[in-house]
Amino acid sequence: MSTKIKERLSMNIRQQFKPDQLDPMEHASIDELRAHQLERLKWSVSHAYDNVPLYRQRFDAAGVHPQDIQSLDDLARLPFTTKTDLRDNYPYGMFATPMEDIVRLHASSGTTGQPTVVGYTQRDIDNWANLVARSIRAAGGRPSDKAHISYGYGLFTGGLGAHYGAERLGCTVIPMSGGQTEKQVRLIRDFDPDIIMVTPSYMLNIADEMERQGIDPHTLSLRLGIFGAEPWTDELRRSVEQRMGIRAMDIYGLSEIMGPGVAMECAETQDGPTVWEDHFYPEIINPETGEVLPDGELGELVFTTLSKEALPMIRYRTRDLTRLLPGTARRMRRIDKITGRSDDMMIIRGVNVFPTQIEEEVVKVKQLSDEYQIHLYRNGNMDSMEVHVELRPEFSHLNESETRDVVAELRHHVKSSVGITVGVNVFPSGGIARSEGKAKRVFDQRNG
Ligand code: DLL
Repeated sequence: MSTKIKERLSMNIRQQFKPDQLDPMEHASIDELRAHQLERLKWSVSHAYDNVPLYRQRFDAAGVHPQDIQSLDDLARLPFTTKTDLRDNYPYGMFATPMEDIVRLHASSGTTGQPTVVGYTQRDIDNWANLVARSIRAAGGRPSDKAHISYGYGLFTGGLGAHYGAERLGCTVIPMSGGQTEKQVRLIRDFDPDIIMVTPSYMLNIADEMERQGIDPHTLSLRLGIFGAEPWTDELRRSVEQRMGIRAMDIYGLSEIMGPGVAMECAETQDGPTVWEDHFYPEIINPETGEVLPDGELGELVFTTLSKEALPMIRYRTRDLTRLLPGTARRMRRIDKITGRSDDMMIIRGVNVFPTQIEEEVVKVKQLSDEYQIHLYRNGNMDSMEVHVELRPEFSHLNESETRDVVAELRHHVKSSVGITVGVNVFPSGGIARSEGKAKRVFDQRNG
């Protein structure tokens, strides 16, 4: 690697964020980017091997030594890392730096009880703030903007991750956190934010509250929504953009790799999040065989961190299903909208179904709000799905036969697009529980 690139790289890590210009790596050539990745990959793999017993044991068992990593393709020789590894080494067993260098912990609650703990050095926090600042700028945010943050603060990475990034960009940050929906609306009305950072499902809840208070969202100052932390469809994007009079941009991330800002959709193209490849190396694998798939093919997203000090992750299996797409607004590759997590996949009478596929169909029915729940039942050997939906307030007067038509329409859409027959249960407006963070969509009532 040339000294010029090296200088640029070390500068890139140390530099303060410059709001008025792209980071050097955001407009590097592909050759420069790949050279940068290889350099960082070698560092990251050695760092993991030298400091984390689990990596040393795994790499030794696989007969691969950090010195064997001479090209980006060599990465495929290394074993995968999973959430179970983090759980088995709870809380700090996978940290690669001494505790005195760790300045922050976050944790994700997980469904099985055992949380996953992640740690950051000061430099990790700095890189994270720079990358979220880069993300907000890519989405169309500017230093002069006010950013209202409704991601939860605390152990969840959403609130503090968004906060540090918005502050780094130079925005005026309103650290509202999740919950207190009435107050959210009051502050949005009074403080005039330009940007809202929130889960898409909580955005819907806040929009409902605005309507309940008789406020037309189009009269408010908001211009840009930065939505993530859960799967959401382009159909929902269009619906939220129309309802709120804003641009809705997709931000992706996960605690194990950093938090929000691993990938961000760019304003110029709005065509799926650009992976910040100078810090995270993405692969798509066949989730069954572990084989690396070519760009464009659908599979499980795997990340290797290239700069993380406290918690280097080598080939971490995210469980998120998507494809890698060529760069557009940047040269770095994009991910397609996440279809869902492999854990969320439901198999209904032999057909694989993701909640997002149901969302796409619900959003199409004009009498229905964008809220939904999926309930799974088992009768004998047969699994069945019932979709709970609710009427929009302006259709709350529908009579029985009109409601039956709505049911028939949704059933028809689901049957023709997804290929399964579902039950549909229509609730009155407000009848479906609202989210204040990540929405729970699936209620599995199958026993055993
Ligand atoms: O949800 C980090 C985050 C906060 C991202 C705020 C974006 C905004 P975790 O709680 O560890 O971290 O959950 C990570 O959430 O593996 C995906 O399954 C899902 N996810 C995150 N962003 C998106 C997105 C944060 N834009 C898990 N689209 C990930 C679809 C997403 N799913």
